Amino acid sequence: MSSVLSLFAPVEADLELLSQNLKTLIGARHPILYAAAEHLFGSKGKQLRPAIVLLMARATLPNQDITPRHRRLAEITEMIHTASLVHDDVVDESILRRGMPTVHSSFSNRVAVLAGDFLFAQASWHLAYLDDLQVVKLLSEVIMDLAEGEIQQGLNHFDATLSIDAYLDKSYYKTASLMANSVKAAGVLSQAPEPLLDNLYAYGRHLGLAFQIVDDILDFTSSDAVLGKPAGSDMRQGNLTAPVLYALEEHPGLEGLIDREFSQEGDLEQALEMIDNSQGLAKSRTLAAHHAHLALEALQDLPASAPRQALMDITDYVLSRIH
Ligand code: FPP
Ligand code: MG
Ligand code: MG
Repeated sequence: MSSVLSLFAPVEADLELLSQNLKTLIGARHPILYAAAEHLFGSKGKQLRPAIVLLMARATLPNQDITPRHRRLAEITEMIHTASLVHDDVVDESILRRGMPTVHSSFSNRVAVLAGDFLFAQASWHLAYLDDLQVVKLLSEVIMDLAEGEIQQGLNHFDATLSIDAYLDKSYYKTASLMANSVKAAGVLSQAPEPLLDNLYAYGRHLGLAFQIVDDILDFTSSDAVLGKPAGSDMRQGNLTAPVLYALEEHPGLEGLIDREFSQEGDLEQALEMIDNSQGLAKSRTLAAHHAHLALEALQDLPASAPRQALMDITDYVLSRIH
């Protein structure tokens, strides 16, 4: 499996600068936020989202350097993503993220809610100062979509009648909208023509869907140690993802266990066994591969370059996490 960091080689220096800038931008205002910023941006996350934005910036400007506005867009993307995770960890009561204590567990819920709000607000401010109305529209829609995805997921808790299409809609809001709209915004800043912008959006959308489906598969197949939480936790908390929805088609008995929210002894184990003895995981892999393939196809009209190759390889990397 190729390491994701080696895929980011064409933007390695850009990502280094991004980490520095994020700490300065966020930390300058308040000591607690400085601590939170150190905590959030110091702990080498994968920086997948800003890496994709920077790669798309370079892929759409093959013979020129990227602009400070492209860099700011990548920073805004990471701020929005991080803000959503700080709030998500409060909502999900998660103690660890990437093996590190979450902001609310290190500080308090109050600090985490305010730190998340501050990050969203600051991202919006920097977005406005990019002074490009189309980019403002794309990224402000992302913030709305993140909230929408979280609300839909909350409303659909333990709803065994959820369709795969509704699951994909929710996954678009929760994960793919950020990738789709931010890579399209990179193209807008590069003054790419409209038909190409549609392809960039499609790349981000399909990559994001593949990424979320893979994440949902890993929740069942990875060990507790790798996940940092017990396998099957999404389902136990009522978040019904592709493997469960497909398994429900083969095992109607699963519905009863979900309806009573796994409240009886052995319910969860029985449900996990039904999923194992179904095509749920295999069908989910096929669905992820389908979206990864559509993401790859969307890059066809971009001129050949090292950043474009990296964007293509990322579609394989996303799938390689489940093999
Ligand atoms: C991670 O999902 C969470 C998200 C991708 C988005 C969370 C969005 C919010 C909490 C809404 C943001 C609020 C505003 C004001 C816009 P997960 O919990 O499935 O994954 P995890 O395992 O990484 O926690
Ligand atoms: Mg969570
Ligand atoms: Mg969540």
